Amino acid sequence: MFIRNETIADIVNIAAVIERAFGRADEARLVERLRNDGDAAISLVATSGDAVVGHVLLSPMSAPFRALGLAPLSVLPQWQRRGIGSALVKSAVQRARAQEYRAIFVLGDPDYYGRFGFRTDLAVGFSSPYAGPHFMVLPLGGALPVVRGRVQYAAAFANPNL
Ligand SMILES: CC(C)(COP(=O)(O)OP(=O)(O)OC[C@H]1O[C@@H](n2cnc3c(N)ncnc32)[C@H](O)[C@@H]1OP(=O)(O)O)[C@@H](O)C(=O)NCCC(=O)NCCS
Repeated sequence: MFIRNETIADIVNIAAVIERAFGRADEARLVERLRNDGDAAISLVATSGDAVVGHVLLSPMSAPFRALGLAPLSVLPQWQRRGIGSALVKSAVQRARAQEYRAIFVLGDPDYYGRFGFRTDLAVGFSSPYAGPHFMVLPLGGALPVVRGRVQYAAAFANPNL
């Protein structure tokens, strides 16, 4: 299993992985819109041989500091529970840190994302339509510069079909 940046040749395969993982087309359409909007800041694939078996995307957020939103994360059903999702998240975090982002926000299962350092308690000061018990933040490069403010996902997330 290998992790690398997406290329144009991966686009169709990524959509297939996302659809299979979520069992519907909404998240694949979201990724297409984010890419078309120029908001695919970090888009990584996990490969096995020539096959794309997993994908993660991070898009810029409007926030009081440079921040990314992680969504969606997907692994083909038959490849799940082998550490591929974890490897994608860890690689994405490394790249975000190297690009000097100060935080990554995610809406997800705290049990899953907690293992990578994402925290619900640090996200409570940030208002967003997604705020709630599943809203988390991972500070990068030290403590968050500010602990409250308004954060907003990239425009594609506002689409009512999501
Ligand atoms: C969430 C997802 C990306 C995880 O990928 P993965 O490669 O299976 O994850 P990992 O192997 O790195 O993580 C393993 C751990 O995560 C947890 N986990 C992973 N998938 C899980 C699932 N479907 N249900 C419950 N726990 C799960 C388990 O605790 C597992 O540990 P274990 O195998 O020791 O029990 C994958 O299940 C998926 O694509 N799901 C559908 C899409 C989705 O919900 N994406 C997340 C929201 S954006």
